[in-house]
Amino acid sequence: MKIFIAILLIALSSSALADGRKLAVPGNPLWQTECGSCHMAYPPQLLTAANWRQMMKGLDSHFGANATLDAKEGAEILAFLERYAARDQRYSANTQRITDTAWFQREHREVSNSVWTHAKVKSRANCTACHVTAERGDWSEHSIRMPDGRRWE
Ligand code: HEC
Ligand code: HEC
Repeated sequence: MKIFIAILLIALSSSALADGRKLAVPGNPLWQTECGSCHMAYPPQLLTAANWRQMMKGLDSHFGANATLDAKEGAEILAFLERYAARDQRYSANTQRITDTAWFQREHREVSNSVWTHAKVKSRANCTACHVTAERGDWSEHSIRMPDGRRWE
């Protein structure tokens, strides 16, 4: 039984995000409300703990927006982000942008430039423009709808 569990854990960690369904997290209501008001609440697994710490230090100038929180709320959200953060450097970007990580670039390498600039998308950070069920934690390829309405596959 122990061996079986060990193999299962290795299988789960090595396929890490190959399957977008694994991006679901047990919800944190404060994170959901505060970090999901201007854009979707991005999954903590998509950046490293160092990136989240850096971001949470500068919420007053957050990608051109003021996303300041009081200290207590900030600390609770950071603890949540750190708990589920990525450990792999493919999820690290010195811009603190998920869309600048090696993982994101690779995962989306087949998406053409005309799609990113489409009026319904506008920004790569607008995940839910294509991942239409991501708010429910379902990032699977089967659920992707491209801006022209087509499925990806
Ligand atoms: C006042 C509005 C606002 C709030 C609140 C807010 N953000 Fe943002 N966030 C933005 C804007 C604007 C961008 C840039 C979006 C773009 O480039 O399209 C952004 C971008 C991001 C990105 C980078 C997306 C990319 O390009 O990969 C991350 C990660 C992020 N926010 C996390 C958070 C977290 C965590 C919180 C909660 C602590 C939060 N945001 C709260 C406005 C906000
Ligand atoms: C313009 C549409 C579009 C946007 C915007 C977009 N994606 Fe994607 N995403 C795709 C497509 C298409 C694929 C599948 C690529 C492939 O298989 O070659 C994909 C794949 C993925 C996968 C892997 C799914 C799986 O099960 O293998 C994840 C996770 C993901 N994207 C997360 C994100 C995140 C996070 C954002 C926002 C920061 C985002 N995407 C923005 C189109 C988009």
